[in-house]
Amino acid sequence: MNETMKTLLNRRSTRAYKPEQIKEAELSNILEGGKFAPSAINEQPWHFTVVQNKQLLNKINEACKAELIKSGHQVLADQAKKEDFSVFYNSPTLIIVSGNEKTITPQIDCALALGNMFLAAESIGIGSCWIHAIAGVLNSEDGAELRKELNIPQGHMVYCSGSFGYKAMEPEAPERKENTVSIIR
Ligand SMILES: Cc1cc2nc3c(=O)[nH]c(=O)nc-3n(C[C@H](O)[C@H](O)[C@H](O)COP(=O)(O)O)c2cc1C
Repeated sequence: MNETMKTLLNRRSTRAYKPEQIKEAELSNILEGGKFAPSAINEQPWHFTVVQNKQLLNKINEACKAELIKSGHQVLADQAKKEDFSVFYNSPTLIIVSGNEKTITPQIDCALALGNMFLAAESIGIGSCWIHAIAGVLNSEDGAELRKELNIPQGHMVYCSGSFGYKAMEPEAPERKENTVSIIR
């Protein structure tokens, strides 16, 4: 199997991280992977906001926890009430992907960019995971202040975000469904 296929098959959603920060060169590598994702008519509508500041990471986590508690979803609310709960699993790096809302397919383009960054990370032994709650919080009225602090560009919607860091776990691959392919020849 070639190295690319190995990376594709080995990437897992990592939900426990070591506290050490990833190296500058590793971050650049990940971001470069994101920039080279395909995008509709090559609009590259994305902006990648990298957060490595502990105070700001904490603020984002607290805002997500508050939102989950308000959500009315009992399981999520109970989890969020725990003192040590981290919506991004205490990863030392968070990458928030926002996109220009006026472009053709910003949501798809941004998701592809984040997917590329996950694979770039795996290719150099760094773990990652999609973190859903952050986009909802940053696009809400309650998240306006935080959005400003993060300098999310004007006219951009936050579409997705991912946690990144050295892995503190090696998860098993969840089973893949059968019968998801039709080949017509
Ligand atoms: C759109 C999307 C949202 C996701 N949101 C979360 C999330 O909020 N938290 C989380 O731990 N994993 C999240 N995941 C990761 C999935 O749970 C994971 O990809 C799936 O279980 C398959 O596992 P694998 O990534 O290890 O192959 C998300 C994945 C996608 C594509």
